[in-house]
Amino acid sequence: IYPYLKYVEKNLHFENVNLKDLALKEGTPLYVYSKNALLYWFNEFDSAFREINHITCFAVKSCSNVNILSILREAGAGADTVSAGEIFRSLTAGIDPKKIVFAGVGKREDEIEYAIEKDILLINVESESELKTVEKVAGKLQKNVSIAFRVNPEVDAGTHPYISTGLKTSKFGINYEEAIDLYKLAANSKWLNPKGIHFHIGSQITDISAFEEAAKKIANLVKELHSIGIEIEYFDAGGGLGINYNPSIPPIPSKALAEKLIPIVKEIGCTLILEPGRRISGNAGILLTKVIYVKERDEKLFYIVDAGMNDLSRPSLYKAYHHIVPVEEKNGIVKKADVVGPICETGDILAEGRELPELKEGDVIAVLSAGAYGFSMSSNYNSRPRAAEILVDSNTYRIIRQRETLGDLIARETLPPVK
Ligand code: LLP
Repeated sequence: IYPYLKYVEKNLHFENVNLKDLALKEGTPLYVYSKNALLYWFNEFDSAFREINHITCFAVKSCSNVNILSILREAGAGADTVSAGEIFRSLTAGIDPKKIVFAGVGKREDEIEYAIEKDILLINVESESELKTVEKVAGKLQKNVSIAFRVNPEVDAGTHPYISTGLKTSKFGINYEEAIDLYKLAANSKWLNPKGIHFHIGSQITDISAFEEAAKKIANLVKELHSIGIEIEYFDAGGGLGINYNPSIPPIPSKALAEKLIPIVKEIGCTLILEPGRRISGNAGILLTKVIYVKERDEKLFYIVDAGMNDLSRPSLYKAYHHIVPVEEKNGIVKKADVVGPICETGDILAEGRELPELKEGDVIAVLSAGAYGFSMSSNYNSRPRAAEILVDSNTYRIIRQRETLGDLIARETLPPVK
């Protein structure tokens, strides 16, 4: 179905691990990642840029488990981070601080301090006020800090409005027109070294031309900066390359993006930084969930499963499509059904009006393409302990995050005073 995900004698396997057995043993809902699928997608992406100096900084927000980060670190990845927490995770996974970039519109002073202390590669500054804060903290720590500005290229990435970030109306980055002045300001600072430029136009982008348009605009800015003596070493083109959420539609090869970006970056002589998240983790992970009840009402069929919007929020939040297959291949009749979770909200839907082979109570299904923004966006809503995470490698597997317990739910709450 996807690399390393296939039926073997009617049983769905991730690498050589039988997913039905795994679900029985470890329980559901269960996030399962494949080490080799992760490496497959990392290499598919990273090798496309091989002919130029580049750093592939994995977007930690898409899948943040330190075991996942550690596998990618071994493969050569850096990290794209958006909080002190993500920097902490990356360092814990052994990622070289000189391969860590830090973005985000609302970095707190303590987070900036943490980033500077850890000597990361670049802080991607998103406003003049932030620039002042970075300068202040750098002065306090008596340290020179390398920064980039995140510049809004003002292009429409043609993706979901919630994940489109490069429009003029979005909260991200500095405006194109103010960029030169801000770079001058930074260059004149005793503590700041503006040596990068950053843009990110959105996520799940399947139209490569938007990347090209943005990259050309930003490259022009780099030329202008070079002409006034501000040397930009790093050209950070962000993340956002889309994946195929439907296994029957092939994904855009990363090469197609590389072909557009490489000549642009070569011309300006920069090191390219890339921040793919979904592209690497998305199809390296799935969510296993069990049908608890089958409910038929007013000609509607509901499969009520044990994973809810707290486990995988993308369908509820963005009406995102996630392909669903049973872990035991079925040849029976196909029926249209809503796959819904147990949460007390009507919007707790994993799939609406989906044609699926008829399922019965106890059947386990796999929600595909759940490796990105799946577990990392999960919550304890409805006081549901979060799912376990499993990493499969060939015919072995290992728990990389224990299932939460009921006690975990209140572990940080203080006990009410006794009267
Ligand atoms: N770099 C920056 C600055 C970003 O803001 C993002 C994602 C990325 C890189 C990685 O983008 P990716 O390669 O994964 O598309 N929760 C949403 C996606 C939000 C993306 C936010 N920024 C979803 O589930 O679709």
